[in-house]
Amino acid sequence: MLNRSTRIALRSNKNIVSRSSILNSLNKSNLIYQQSRLISSSEPIKAQVQPEVSSGSASFHKAPRIIHQGQSDKPTVAILGSGWGAISFLQHVDSTKYNVVLISPRNYFLFTPLLPSCPVGTVDEKSIMEPVVSFANKKKGDVTYYEAEATDINPNDKTVTIKSFSNINSISPDSVNVGLQANEVAQIKYDYLITAVGAEPNTFGIPGVEEHGCFLKEIPDSKKIRHKFIEAVEKANLLPKDDPERKRLLTLVVVGGGPTGVETAGELQDYIDQDLKTFMPNIVDEIQIVLIEALPVVLNMFETKLTSYAEKVLRETNIDLKTKTAVGKVESEYLIAKTKKDDGSIEETKIPYGVLVWATGNKPRSLITNLFKKIPEQNQANRGLIVNENLLVNGTNNIFAIGDNAFAKLPPTAQVAHQEAEYLSKVFSKISRIPNFHENLKSSTKPDVLFEENGIKPFKYIHLGSLAYLGAEKAIANITYGSRSFYSGGGIFTFFVWRVLYVSMILSFRSRFKVIADWTKIAFFGRDAFKEL
Ligand SMILES: Cc1cc2nc3c(=O)[nH]c(=O)nc-3n(C[C@H](O)[C@H](O)[C@H](O)COP(=O)(O)OP(=O)(O)OC[C@H]3O[C@@H](n4cnc5c(N)ncnc54)[C@H](O)[C@@H]3O)c2cc1C
Ligand SMILES: NC(=O)c1ccc[n+]([C@@H]2O[C@H](COP(=O)([O-])OP(=O)(O)OC[C@H]3O[C@@H](n4cnc5c(N)ncnc54)[C@H](O)[C@@H]3O)[C@@H](O)[C@H]2O)c1
Repeated sequence: MLNRSTRIALRSNKNIVSRSSILNSLNKSNLIYQQSRLISSSEPIKAQVQPEVSSGSASFHKAPRIIHQGQSDKPTVAILGSGWGAISFLQHVDSTKYNVVLISPRNYFLFTPLLPSCPVGTVDEKSIMEPVVSFANKKKGDVTYYEAEATDINPNDKTVTIKSFSNINSISPDSVNVGLQANEVAQIKYDYLITAVGAEPNTFGIPGVEEHGCFLKEIPDSKKIRHKFIEAVEKANLLPKDDPERKRLLTLVVVGGGPTGVETAGELQDYIDQDLKTFMPNIVDEIQIVLIEALPVVLNMFETKLTSYAEKVLRETNIDLKTKTAVGKVESEYLIAKTKKDDGSIEETKIPYGVLVWATGNKPRSLITNLFKKIPEQNQANRGLIVNENLLVNGTNNIFAIGDNAFAKLPPTAQVAHQEAEYLSKVFSKISRIPNFHENLKSSTKPDVLFEENGIKPFKYIHLGSLAYLGAEKAIANITYGSRSFYSGGGIFTFFVWRVLYVSMILSFRSRFKVIADWTKIAFFGRDAFKEL
């Protein structure tokens, strides 16, 4: 019995590899050939057989050194990333008008708003992952996916250098080997480039953070936090009650009182209060979560009434909240923090920890900072690619930037990335209908004027509000439409509002269903306490 992705591949890749050769190789080696419907190129791209992987569908194919994608009468749009910006753009772009190429080392979309729920298993990691192929399969026209990392953007020759991210080095000798080999380098030629590679955790160069801290940005981060936390509790459990090492191991420090830090601390505290007490009742009262924030308040994007409420909930749930405290150094078993006292003096403290979660915000990826240097208009950029009102990267007429890797004077949120992507896909639809627009844009020295003359309106962000989970089934929310506020509050009711809104934001029905099932499951059976899941 072939699985679904196998059937898709067989149906759509008939002119690349014969059905019988694939079936032969499937039969002989029990390998699964996946998602080659996505592959389309004027170059002879062939199919590849690969072992079935558990993390969702993947597409791998061999690329020549320089790849001119798809049909030559259509412009090629290369999209970098598979996160909020990239996938929202893919969902909405008219792929019959362009050769669409998506490049990302991560072969799935990640619904980040529920990532803080994952380390403790409130939501299963797989529930918030959706394979790229699920989105690509719904598109008409040609969509190609490369499971690869973009390592360099070359605006002068309009290419992106990519390095295959696949760890598949060898496949069955009988099958057709066509994938990009692991670590193989190729260049993709583009007419338009959409950068949506997000950002990476910022350590502000503080020594020790990279080595000893856990970030919370991707799925492996969630698994690492769970593993370290359970391991620390298990180790502590073997030590006598008065051993300082036991106290250290049972201290979990979260640095950064932004939404990532607060939500993670709240979820961990929930796990301790609601589940760990059943598994390890003798130790649970000794576990201490410490939340450290450099500013005087946590969640500073909310109004004072809500931040005060948030702090009250955090303290009531036994989280040791230290505001006006900045961490300056991290060692393997303790960190050094400086607290600004009310009289203006600075107090230095040494805080031993068993697990350290680092959530102090983002910085641009090296792919993007390297591009800053190649475009004179971007030389002053530091937070992201500076874009004009149409999200075109200043100093270029074919690179657009959306999401966290763009600097459009907006916060780095999923909401912004999603709206920017929707807007840009509409722009792409519109310009495909304007005669000679592509040619005119290529030679234009004033792209802003060209966009305006052709009636393309600037991007307008509409803020729909902010939500944050605090733990103990309490959340805060400020629901808005632009400058109009519809709801502002905190508590258990807001927690249900938070859940409903988050579920409605999930991009696929499948994920939505799985998240609701996870919540239902833990309501009846609680969470698990496994290091590995
Ligand atoms: C724990 C957490 C919770 C959050 N909760 C919320 C929330 O509740 N509401 C909200 O609005 N925002 C939230 N955010 C912020 C939100 O996730 C980001 O603003 C959003 O993901 C930005 O979208 P993006 O497309 O720019 O980047 P991302 O979604 O991060 O996607 C970047 C993509 O680029 C890929 N990539 C990376 N490097 C390369 C490369 N070299 N080449 C090709 N591809 C590459 C990555 O694999 C990824 O697929 C949260 C963030 C975190 C970390
Ligand atoms: N629920 C939500 O809407 C949600 C959830 C998570 C993330 N996000 C978005 O993702 C983006 C990133 O969020 P985030 O929470 O990761 O980062 P953030 O930038 O929002 O917050 C980081 C916090 O860390 C503090 N900090 C920095 N250095 C420190 C140090 N050395 N010691 C102590 N504190 C320090 C900062 O003062 C800041 O408050 C934001 O735009 C946020 O809005 C939103």
